[in-house]
Amino acid sequence: MFFELLRRFLDRGFGSELNPLNHLGALTIYFFWIVTISGIWLFLFFKTSVSGAYESVEYLTHEQWYLGGVMRSLHRYASDAAIITLALHMIREFVYDRYRGNRWFSWVTGIPLLWMVFPLGITGYWLVWDQLAWYVALTSAELLDWFPVFSDSMARNFLSLDALSNRFFTLMAFVHLIGLPLFLVFGIWLHVLRINGPRINPPRVLMAGSLAAMTVLSFSWPALSQGEVDMAQVPQSLGLDWYYLLVYPLMKTWSPAWVWGLLFGVSLLLFAAPWLPPQRSKSAAAVDLDNCNGCSRCADDCPFGAITMMERSDGKAYEKEAVVDPSLCMSCAMCVGSCPTATPFRRHSALSPGIDMPDLSAATLRETILKVSRKLTGNCRILVFGCEGHDKTAKLKSGLNDNETATVDIICVAQLPPSFIDFVLSRDLAEGVVLAGCAGGECLYRFGEQWTGLRIERQRDPRLRKRVDADRIALAWQEPWSGLSDTTTVVAALRNSLPAGDIAEQGADEKISLPPARENAWKLPLTIAAYTLFMVIVGWLSVWPRYQLIEQNQAMVSLSFSHAGHHIRECRKLTQEELNKLPPNMRKADDCPRERLPVRIAFSSDGNTLYEASRPPTGLWNDGESNVYHRMVIPAGKQKLFIGMIDSRREEGFDYSLEQEVDFLPGQHVVVEFDSIQQSFIFKVE
Ligand code: HEM
Ligand code: SF4
Ligand code: SF4
Repeated sequence: MFFELLRRFLDRGFGSELNPLNHLGALTIYFFWIVTISGIWLFLFFKTSVSGAYESVEYLTHEQWYLGGVMRSLHRYASDAAIITLALHMIREFVYDRYRGNRWFSWVTGIPLLWMVFPLGITGYWLVWDQLAWYVALTSAELLDWFPVFSDSMARNFLSLDALSNRFFTLMAFVHLIGLPLFLVFGIWLHVLRINGPRINPPRVLMAGSLAAMTVLSFSWPALSQGEVDMAQVPQSLGLDWYYLLVYPLMKTWSPAWVWGLLFGVSLLLFAAPWLPPQRSKSAAAVDLDNCNGCSRCADDCPFGAITMMERSDGKAYEKEAVVDPSLCMSCAMCVGSCPTATPFRRHSALSPGIDMPDLSAATLRETILKVSRKLTGNCRILVFGCEGHDKTAKLKSGLNDNETATVDIICVAQLPPSFIDFVLSRDLAEGVVLAGCAGGECLYRFGEQWTGLRIERQRDPRLRKRVDADRIALAWQEPWSGLSDTTTVVAALRNSLPAGDIAEQGADEKISLPPARENAWKLPLTIAAYTLFMVIVGWLSVWPRYQLIEQNQAMVSLSFSHAGHHIRECRKLTQEELNKLPPNMRKADDCPRERLPVRIAFSSDGNTLYEASRPPTGLWNDGESNVYHRMVIPAGKQKLFIGMIDSRREEGFDYSLEQEVDFLPGQHVVVEFDSIQQSFIFKVE
């Protein structure tokens, strides 16, 4: 419903050909092009070091605002716009049921693209190294720490500048600029691999419009950094890019396990979607070699690349033969419409074209045409061919199936070979023919409208024969506001224009007269309104609403250290008897276990326990240090902090502890560390 409304609104401004909703995949790729080109410029000036990163981005933004600044804004806004078109692309394929059956491949290969696009944006935010970058880096590291891959906690690197190295920025730049983009290009190639003639470039007008919109936005609302990183001070609020960082605020209340659970859960659901519930399987197109002359038109027209032209296998004089791969065939029947042997004029042989649909064969179609037309009476009989997916045909069936009008259901409007129209008109089965299909990019099978239009306009084989009077044919997929959108209206208009009962042989060279679209005075204002709305949505959600990291009167404490617990038991001297049992090269006086005890921690403020945990040892043999990392928000003001740690088997008291009064300023960030040399705690107030 939402999509239908949006489509109608955009149709009014752009027209169905240029409606951005029909080019969402291509627009996403186009926005990535803008991101790539602007990114190259930024990279030329970017310094991959802790001290240089922020400075170099600031230089680009302010000193070189006219070019570097605009490039930076374009880079950000085009990345955000790509998320909008990507989300709409996904929803659209889902809503229009274009993800099931043999289309599962494009759907399933689309999901890993999400897992590349989001990290691509997120790593971009790290590189700026402003306060937002610090928040993103810290939260991302907290999320990644959930995987037991690294022995140390990654998040601890972002609590003090000393822990950060320039190599980290080189690594991030590599991931953001080379690693992920390469995977993305490969992923997109795979994603459209099974689609015949995928639309990877939007129409030029849309390219120009989108670039203009992004440039206007970049000049009017330049992308800015959010202050230099100061790890001793937590920003109260941040302008979050909600397109890329939507799940980050969840980390305030959710554990990393829940966040990953959500992300993996949604991905699994998406992976399973094409089979939930399973689609009724339709029969694939079948080739009849006796009638196939190897002309390859079917292979050219198949929207899903399901037909391959192979060496002739039956010894006939033709060079090639059509071979259908049933695992790719979507049963759209467009190949039947393109096959020159699918002609209803055959009198003596059965109508058996080179390629046909077992569920609705060309012969059955001819029978149906003959049957329904026989029932028609009156001077202005009209046959309407409507595709199954065209709801207007259904409406028409109930409303207009009078004595003078009959409807014939076909799989897709492009199933009908033009020779069938010739057949209907020249055999006097009706005075007029209406082809009712889905408008613009809404054809379930992608090219229904396009192929039909071109064949009827005699621009693509098989062409409508010249002897057919073009005035007797009407196509019913005009733009909705043209006044002729409804098939019933098209039928009525065709009937009014027909010289009843007189099948004219002349006028053969005329072009098919599509019902004239009404002048749309709103076109330009609506297009401008659509672009303005798009700019506002892109710009707004890229920093707004601001995310409240901590309240005005709050501060933050992070516990961050590693410490090894005692071994699970004391070393023990081996007896002579035990030593004798061991091979000579393995004899040693002491038997010491490798495994260590967990480290137990308690942290409190003014007597209230804020954190209590038992941290297990790391390492494959449980012989490594235990990592302690925990971030807490606490009220500002004077507080008596206490931290205690047990690394032994003791039941009461602590092996190490520190109690200290700290006067927290609002937003202050205190890190609690353990000095392994002094064997004591420190409240690090930078
Ligand atoms: C970087 C992100 C993506 C890009 C650049 C992209 C691009 C494209 C392009 C160019 C097409 C061909 C469109 C056509 O010729 O009609 C396409 C088709 C398709 N995409 Fe995507 N896509 C992306 C992500 C996704 C995602 C995340 C999904 C869903 C999970 C998805 C689902 C599909 C499906 C089902 C089709 C096939 C449509 C058909 O057979 O008619 N795509 N995509
Ligand atoms: S029915 Fe459609 S998808 Fe199948 S082979 Fe024919 S044109 Fe291709
Ligand atoms: S269009 Fe018909 S005749 Fe031509 S290759 Fe395909 S099946 Fe054979």
